[in-house]
Amino acid sequence: MFKIQIDNINGKTEALYVYGDESILSELEAHNVLVDFSCRQGHCGSCILQLLSGDVEHKNTLIPLSKGEILACRAKPITDIKISTKP
Ligand code: FES
Repeated sequence: MFKIQIDNINGKTEALYVYGDESILSELEAHNVLVDFSCRQGHCGSCILQLLSGDVEHKNTLIPLSKGEILACRAKPITDIKISTKP
């Protein structure tokens, strides 16, 4: 299992424990941590989060991402991670 440390996303700062077989977006939704999203397919960019520590497996996307940015709908944790919304 992997730990997703949530750093103040919509007022929530907590830790989730997940198997890493679902996208971060799906895991957050399953734990009632709400983040912006629209397409769920890596096209719109509305689900961008900051990866503060740890590693993710990231599927292809056409959205240009800056260093440390991930798409919650396209990424799965492969280690314990810490995430937040964009500053
Ligand atoms: S929901 Fe559109 S890129 Fe993630």
